[in-house]
Amino acid sequence: TIENIKAREVFDSRGNPTVEADVILSDGTLGRAEVPSGASTGELEAVELRDGGSRLQGKGVSKAVNNVNTAINDALHGADPFNQAKIDDAMIKLDGTKNKAKLGANAILAVSMATCRAAANYQKVPLYRYLGGTDLELPQTFHNVINGGEHADNGIDMQEFMITPVERTSFRDGFEKIANTYHTLKKVIEDAGYQSGLGDEGGFAPDLNSSEEALQMLHDAIKKAGYEPGKEIAIAFDAAASYFYNHDTGNYDFEGTTKTPDQMADYYKGLLEKFPEIISIEDPFGEDDWDNFAKFTANYGDKVQIVADDPVCTNPELITKAIKKGMANSILIKLNQIGTVTETLEAIRLARKNGYTTMMSHRSGETGDTFIADFTVATNSAELKSGAPARSERVEKYNQLLRIEEELGTEGTRLAHFPDNVDFD
Ligand code: PGA
Ligand code: ZN
Repeated sequence: TIENIKAREVFDSRGNPTVEADVILSDGTLGRAEVPSGASTGELEAVELRDGGSRLQGKGVSKAVNNVNTAINDALHGADPFNQAKIDDAMIKLDGTKNKAKLGANAILAVSMATCRAAANYQKVPLYRYLGGTDLELPQTFHNVINGGEHADNGIDMQEFMITPVERTSFRDGFEKIANTYHTLKKVIEDAGYQSGLGDEGGFAPDLNSSEEALQMLHDAIKKAGYEPGKEIAIAFDAAASYFYNHDTGNYDFEGTTKTPDQMADYYKGLLEKFPEIISIEDPFGEDDWDNFAKFTANYGDKVQIVADDPVCTNPELITKAIKKGMANSILIKLNQIGTVTETLEAIRLARKNGYTTMMSHRSGETGDTFIADFTVATNSAELKSGAPARSERVEKYNQLLRIEEELGTEGTRLAHFPDNVDFD
């Protein structure tokens, strides 16, 4: 049973405070977890409780930490760590709000994840084994190698330009191709006369003139690294369009122009024609622009994966609505958008049941915690985006997948391969 829960304020990859929780079982077993934090957050995400005031730019989490150490600790004392659903439900009830604003989703999620870890540690099994079934598979990973939008101070309005391995003989083989392409991209950027400093997710943040130029650079880097675009390495992007959607006009203020939703769709169509190796587009329209999001899915959903992030926020209720509307054909999954392990599992189940793919995701503010790597494997989520193959808070997730592949053995391990055969079980 749970003997004690103790949280503390630690720091994330952007130097902002975040919550770490220790769950200690009666035999002394420890489970520890740290929560990440987004920058381009969806409006309907569960609420991160922050202190306000002047200390640490108002971003302190001492109230959330205190909520873990008092109310949550009291409520869960003596609870069974193997009953995750009951633990999470107890915290949801204790909070009592719809968006976890009272105790803080950062407080609740830290305890939810740490409880999982404690249970796995007690059984002396790896987290992915504790959480998962049999027949596990290693995900296809999406690597944000040029950072724009809210993640960098450059002129690019789209947020993430990603590369992903397609043909590969093992997870390691795919990751090596990505690392080679990343290093080649640095040269491509520098040869074009741009700075190759990094953005929040470890990708380069050159001051390019347009998103199209960023895609061209990915295309060039893939070829220059010796790979065939689309066959060995494909491209994906997250437009994060909520951040250039104009609520007053319903148009998109994009890279110096104003585009109507139809013009925006034409722009994406042009990109798909110019770069046929684009296989996945996230948030092409704003979180309040469901009609155009759905229209785009109706027109292009059979050609490309269309991922919904900000509109649905890993929230089962919103995902249900999105499915009804025919919006997107893939759901982005972020634990801290909803705030418990159990609700995240429900979101994944719901998406899969309806034929949607799921892409697990890090946040732009990350920690060294590798929970999502195990969670991706355990849920056969098939796809994971965790940033560039650089900066430890990103790479540790991939390193964990290399360890898992070693443990499972490459021979018995299934490799998720999108877009051909994503497995929904
Ligand atoms: P965030 O960005 O972590 O800053 O919210 C990630 C995303 O939009 O997918
Ligand atoms: Zn996104």
